[in-house]
Amino acid sequence: MKAENISVRIGSKEILKGVDFKAEPGQVTAIIGPNGSGKSTLLKALSGEIQSSGRISLNGHEITALKPWELAAIRGVLPQATTVAFPFSVHEVVRLGLANGLAAEDDTLPSRALMQVDLGGFETRSYQNLSGGEQQRVQMARVLTQVWDTKDLDQQRWLLLDEPVASLDIAHQIIVLCIARDFAAQGGGVVVVMHDLNLTALFADKVCILSEGKVWASGTVSAVLNNETMQQVYGIDLPINTIPAGGMPFVLPQSMI
Ligand SMILES: Nc1ncnc2c1ncn2[C@@H]1O[C@H](COP(=O)(O)OP(=O)(O)O)[C@@H](O)[C@H]1O
Ligand SMILES: [Mg+2]
Repeated sequence: MKAENISVRIGSKEILKGVDFKAEPGQVTAIIGPNGSGKSTLLKALSGEIQSSGRISLNGHEITALKPWELAAIRGVLPQATTVAFPFSVHEVVRLGLANGLAAEDDTLPSRALMQVDLGGFETRSYQNLSGGEQQRVQMARVLTQVWDTKDLDQQRWLLLDEPVASLDIAHQIIVLCIARDFAAQGGGVVVVMHDLNLTALFADKVCILSEGKVWASGTVSAVLNNETMQQVYGIDLPINTIPAGGMPFVLPQSMI
């Protein structure tokens, strides 16, 4: 997946200003940056949900040339927030992921996806009565269902996830990010918006840091997460340390601002 010189303007506001972005299949690529830096807007542009100037290609195809059902079969999108207006059951919400026109009408997929996100047995529960974190995992199951079975499709699959672990407890954060890693291990590509820098360091291969609608830095976790960048992008002292074995970076805020 490649985006070149992406700009998005809404009204008089330029939200993305000439962003270049690349994600490889088989890898987890994280997008991080402060609130309002343009992460969700970039993810929406990459998913083809909003128009942008510049070029975005997915599996070598211009995204604008792909038909909606082709896009739906190639990539699943987890939005930052999802409202379900109708009193759907959990099964009905997850089943929406099957409606991509290509997936076999395999009605066991929603339950298998629910098992993956640790919601086995939740099928008949009312979606609206679930906790925020449970709803987020149901949405993750819907997205997994969408891109699960593409055996008829000779195309790389992608997961585009906007803060998928934002309202999850630590155990479920790890479960969901392990799903993303497994997806990449099977050859799929994952682009994930994250806030937690430690989980980013643990799970991402590459990181793209956005600041005020521009790419501040991009590259491997160890190349990109450093004291200067943290200070400049987040505006506070966030010293990066490394775990002795393996040298993985981590951040432990030391004090109030
Ligand atoms: N539809 C919109 N209309 C006006 N401003 C928007 C719209 N969508 C996003 N923005 C603004 O663009 C900036 C980037 O938004 P967003 O991509 O959601 O940021 P992030 O996900 O990094 O927090 C924010 O200042 C936000 O208020
Ligand atoms: Mg956002």
